[in-house]
Amino acid sequence: MSEEKIAVVTGGNRGIGFAIVKGLCENFNGSIFLTSRDKSKGEKACQELQNIGYTPQFYQLDVTENESILNFCSLFKSNKKIDLLVNNAGILFLKDAIESKIFQAEQTLLVNFFALVNFTEAILPFIKDHGTILNISSSSGHLSRIPSEKLRKEISDPNLSLDGLKSLMQNYIESVKLNKHIADGWGDSPYVVSKVGLNAYTFMLNRRLKHRGILVNCIHPGYVMTDMTRGAGTVSPEEAAKCVLKLALNTKVGGLYVWSNGDIVPWDGPDPRGYIDGKIV
Ligand SMILES: NC(=O)c1ccc[n+]([C@@H]2O[C@H](COP(=O)([O-])OP(=O)(O)OC[C@H]3O[C@@H](n4cnc5c(N)ncnc54)[C@H](OP(=O)(O)O)[C@@H]3O)[C@@H](O)[C@H]2O)c1
Repeated sequence: MSEEKIAVVTGGNRGIGFAIVKGLCENFNGSIFLTSRDKSKGEKACQELQNIGYTPQFYQLDVTENESILNFCSLFKSNKKIDLLVNNAGILFLKDAIESKIFQAEQTLLVNFFALVNFTEAILPFIKDHGTILNISSSSGHLSRIPSEKLRKEISDPNLSLDGLKSLMQNYIESVKLNKHIADGWGDSPYVVSKVGLNAYTFMLNRRLKHRGILVNCIHPGYVMTDMTRGAGTVSPEEAAKCVLKLALNTKVGGLYVWSNGDIVPWDGPDPRGYIDGKIV
């Protein structure tokens, strides 16, 4: 039986994902798989780290492409499994985006929720028992960000199945198509809905994987200066990666939503941006 430890990061070619890979190179005793949907961008990122003495390995992985997921999964065997999976890949349309709301909703939910779920479900047999999954969420993933109490109850129902959660996320897209999403209580942000869905999946998956000892958590990494925010933010990707790594490398409990300062936040409690970040919400 191989004892090789493996960590996998999605969207590792830039931003927070790249900083997580770099931090793992410094702190994780094993092989680090930097994955990226674009081969040349991923190889360039790996080269940058190799130039400073690190040894990440590049693998192509577009989480929205089934073929890419299958190719990636074929790397693993019963004696070659993953200790740590960081689901980092994500997209955000900023407020001034010119794309239609429908396009924004479909793409955002596709990458941040449906693809993350598909990929995670496909790779699950290759996560080691007692391994760790960390989903990079956001302050936007807090349940309070969904205006409708009825929807909040449905999304956070502990008896909700994965198919039920997927249906709710699909209902949101249908609601946007009919331009009824505000009236239906979803609010105006596809990113919020996608990250709330991601958090719901995190807690559901953690419950489901208890028998295998796999711990699943999600984290808000802070407001981070990356391409996603066009460089706006309060912390560098390296700073953000520190809190991510602290949790990823010392996971003792699953089913947590952790804030960038390390606080464990009740997902269905008051909006933590008020009491942690001091923002008026
Ligand atoms: N920046 C913030 O303030 C902030 C705050 C809270 C949460 N987050 C979350 O942190 C994560 C990383 O964000 P970031 O700020 O580092 O964003 P970023 O700089 O825009 O990087 C996003 C990464 O995701 C990858 N990606 C997008 N679609 C993908 C797909 N289909 N398959 C595989 N990879 C894909 C991108 O690849 P390409 O280079 O090929 O596009 C890129 O590597 C996201 O989940 C984001 O929602 C960010």
